[in-house]
Amino acid sequence: MVHEVQGVIAREKGAPVEVTTILVPDPGPGEALVRVQACGVCHTDLHYREGGINDEFPFLLGHEAAGIVEAVGPDVSSVALGDFVILNWRAVCGECRSCRRGRPQYCFDTHNATQKMTLADGTVLAPALGIGAFSEKTIVAAGQCTKVDARARPEAAGLLGCGVMAGLGASMFTGEVGFGDSVAVFGCGGVGCAAIAGARLAGASTIIGVDIDPRKLEVAMQFGATHTVNSSGNDAVEAIRALTGGNGANVCVEAVGNAKVMEQAFFARDLAGTLVQVGVPTPEMRIDLPMIEFFGRGGQLKPSWYGDCLPSRDFPILIDLYLEGRLDLDRFVSETIELDGVEEAFHRMERGEVLRSVVVIAS
Ligand SMILES: NC(=O)c1ccc[n+]([C@@H]2O[C@H](COP(=O)([O-])OP(=O)(O)OC[C@H]3O[C@@H](n4cnc5c(N)ncnc54)[C@H](O)[C@@H]3O)[C@@H](O)[C@H]2O)c1
Ligand SMILES: [Zn+2]
Ligand SMILES: [Zn+2]
Repeated sequence: MVHEVQGVIAREKGAPVEVTTILVPDPGPGEALVRVQACGVCHTDLHYREGGINDEFPFLLGHEAAGIVEAVGPDVSSVALGDFVILNWRAVCGECRSCRRGRPQYCFDTHNATQKMTLADGTVLAPALGIGAFSEKTIVAAGQCTKVDARARPEAAGLLGCGVMAGLGASMFTGEVGFGDSVAVFGCGGVGCAAIAGARLAGASTIIGVDIDPRKLEVAMQFGATHTVNSSGNDAVEAIRALTGGNGANVCVEAVGNAKVMEQAFFARDLAGTLVQVGVPTPEMRIDLPMIEFFGRGGQLKPSWYGDCLPSRDFPILIDLYLEGRLDLDRFVSETIELDGVEEAFHRMERGEVLRSVVVIAS
């Protein structure tokens, strides 16, 4: 059976997104059909529609989602009909050279559904990050579904599917923030605020939020920043040293995707400190560092993919922490909108007015 549902597509580069009818097949082997309940609007969706990811238009957008499993393929046992799941964009294969070496969080061959979703005229859609969840239903690889406690609000839980997990994991997993560490987070958008929340969960003592927008610094404090630095008028490196006894931070997280900020984060570290790069650069960005500084400061420089998370391991734990009141996922939800509100939500995101707009789909 083919399911005829409404979804948000980017038909061509730069054109406003549109709600249209899409066709979703029943799940085959290894696949799951999910009824989407909520899906966050992420910068990556905008990158897709601007042609910044690739040219495989039309795209079915949306990838930070939670919903209910409506059907599974014949061989699927990891999830079942009725499960409340968070979707992820790194369903690990278990067989590549990284998985075989016991490092599935770096899997080099992650899975998506093999069947395609299409427009009513048969045009094949490219789902954003292999998900495509600005849609009443979507088809994914079963491994892209992680069952979590159904008491979680879908609009908050779904955010773990991308940016919030990337930020939490940048601090907790990639940066290995520990008890008593000092942490500086550059860029206090959704990802940076999640990095602040992750640093707090990990037991950091000093947590410094850095941004050029005072509205974001206020939000950073709500997520647990102990100090903030407005880097539009101040030298961020000097300010961070002053807040850390003249030394610099143990862990600096770059959550903007900007070469100048990356340099600030490099120099704002204490000796043997860690720099985590979670902001996504464009191909033309360059950094120029004296090798003696690289060597002399020691420590680690670490890019972070999806916060180095393993969804099957981490999503259920983080949802439990949320339900216990120890991780405020609700605070990331700036507003809820309907499927036809995605284009306007892109503009609010560009103006810096929201952490996350979240599409909620009534059942
Ligand atoms: N590595 C991953 O797996 C992963 C996953 C999701 C998102 N990301 C990336 O993380 C980055 C942040 O995403 P987001 O959703 O939080 O974006 P966002 O636009 O909500 O936040 C970016 C923040 O950076 C601030 N900023 C801009 N220029 C700055 C500067 N020069 N100095 C200090 N702050 C500055 C902005 O004011 C804003 O608050 C993006 O590059 C995104 O693509 C990475
Ligand atoms: Zn693998
Ligand atoms: Zn995203």
